[in-house]
Amino acid sequence: MTTIDWLWLLHPAMAVVLIYPLLGVVLRLAWQTRQRRLNQVKAPVTSGAEHADLGRWLAMGVVLIQLVAITVVILTKQPLALDGPRAGLLGLVLAGTLIALAALWQVRQAVYRASFALLAWFGLMGLGLQPEVWRLSDNPLDPAFWQSHFWGGIGLSGLMLFSVAARPEILRRASWRRLHITANALATLIFLAQGITGPRDLLEIPLSWQKPAIYACDFEQQVCPTP
Ligand code: HEM
Ligand code: HEM
Repeated sequence: MTTIDWLWLLHPAMAVVLIYPLLGVVLRLAWQTRQRRLNQVKAPVTSGAEHADLGRWLAMGVVLIQLVAITVVILTKQPLALDGPRAGLLGLVLAGTLIALAALWQVRQAVYRASFALLAWFGLMGLGLQPEVWRLSDNPLDPAFWQSHFWGGIGLSGLMLFSVAARPEILRRASWRRLHITANALATLIFLAQGITGPRDLLEIPLSWQKPAIYACDFEQQVCPTP
C-alpha cells in the first residue's frame, strides 16, 4: 500500500467506522420517537431530541465523507491535469460547500436553512461531476445509473440535507413528519445500497502500483494481456 492507496481508503473506513454505527443509533431513536408519539411503549422523553441531534451529525458526516472521497479522487487521479486556475476554482467550491454546511448548522430562518442546504448539495454535486470522478453512468434511463455509487451518494445527501433544513417543521407539523418518514425510508434503502456498491467499487479498484497492468485489460471482453 502506498500513500495514495491509504488516502483512497479514508472514505470507506470513515463510512464503516463512523457513518453506519451512527445510522444504527439514529434509526433506533427514530423508532422510539414514533412509538412514543403513538403512545404504544414508554420510550424515553428525550428520544425525539436525541434522534434529531444525532440525525444532524449523521447528515453532516454523510456529506463530509463524500467530500473526502471526491477530493482524494480529484487530487490523486490525474494530478498533472489539474492546472492552476481549475485547482483554484475547485478549491473555492470546496471551501464554499464547507461554509454552507457550517452555516446550515447555525441559521434559524427557513429561507436560510433551505438556501444553505441547497448550496451545500450543489457544491457537492459540482465537485462530483468533475471528469476524474467515476460515475458508471449519468443517464437515468440507463440501468447502470441506478447502480452508481456516486449517484446513490448524491441522492442520499439530498435527503439528509433536506431533513436537517426542515428540522423545525418536522418537529411541529404532522404533514412534514409524514414526508420526513417517507423520504428517510428511501434514504435507509440508499444507505443499504451504498453499503453494497461501496465494497463492490473497493473490490474493483486496483492498488496504485497494479493500475497499469489492470487497466491494460479489456473490460468488455473480460480478458487481460498474458504477462
Ligand atoms: C435514516 C435517517 C432517518 C430516519 C429513518 C428518520 C425517521 C424518523 C421517524 C420515524 C420519526 C418519528 C416521526 C413521528 O414521530 O411521527 C422522526 C422524527 C424526527 N426526525 Fe428523523 N429520521 C432520520 C433522519 C433525520 C435527520 C437527518 C434529521 C435532521 C435533523 C431528523 C429530524 C427529525 C426530527 C426533528 C423529528 C421529530 C422529533 C420529535 O418528534 O421530537 N431525522 N424521524
Ligand atoms: C453512507 C454511505 C456512503 C456514501 C454516501 C458514499 C458516497 C461516495 C461518493 C459520493 C463517492 C465519490 C464518487 C466515486 O468515486 O465513486 C464515493 C467513493 C467511494 N466509495 Fe463511497 N460512500 C458510502 C459508503 C461506502 C462504503 C461503505 C464503502 C466501502 C466499504 C465505500 C467505498 C467507496 C470507494 C472505494 C470509493 C472510490 C473512491 C475513494 O475511495 O475515495 N463507500 N463514495
